[in-house]
Amino acid sequence: MKKFFTIAALLAVCVGFSSQAMAADGGAIYKSKCLMCHGADGKGTAMGVALAGSEFIASSSDRVIAEVILKGREGDVKKYKNIALGMPAMKLSDDTGALVVYLRSLAVK
Ligand code: HEC
Repeated sequence: MKKFFTIAALLAVCVGFSSQAMAADGGAIYKSKCLMCHGADGKGTAMGVALAGSEFIASSSDRVIAEVILKGREGDVKKYKNIALGMPAMKLSDDTGALVVYLRSLAVK
């Protein structure tokens, strides 16, 4: 019985670590693919809108956010006419979930 609890405790620690690692991955993807336009702290640049404190992220489902990232938003569907560039469709594998978690952490700041 004691052994069972030890294993359960170890498992809980592992799960804790892996969810932390996922959040860190989202940050790493952001740094390599999004930072140049959306800024280091998500506050936006001349090439991309602010994601920190973003109303869009706060009020959209994960699916809608992932869709903007994967399909982009250029041309007629652009929302922010004050920025000449559009949001390019980004190639991501299955790490979109971790990225969305990271964006949500930026959005509440
Ligand atoms: C080449 C510059 C550029 C890159 C790189 C880029 N974006 Fe964007 N992004 C934009 C622009 C410009 C917009 C605004 C488009 C519009 O007018 O609707 C935007 C819009 C968005 C929006 C919607 C914001 C809103 O308020 O509607 C999200 C979410 C987003 N980007 C996330 C990302 C993520 C995540 C990455 C990295 C995987 C990324 N972007 C990479 C330029 C960029």
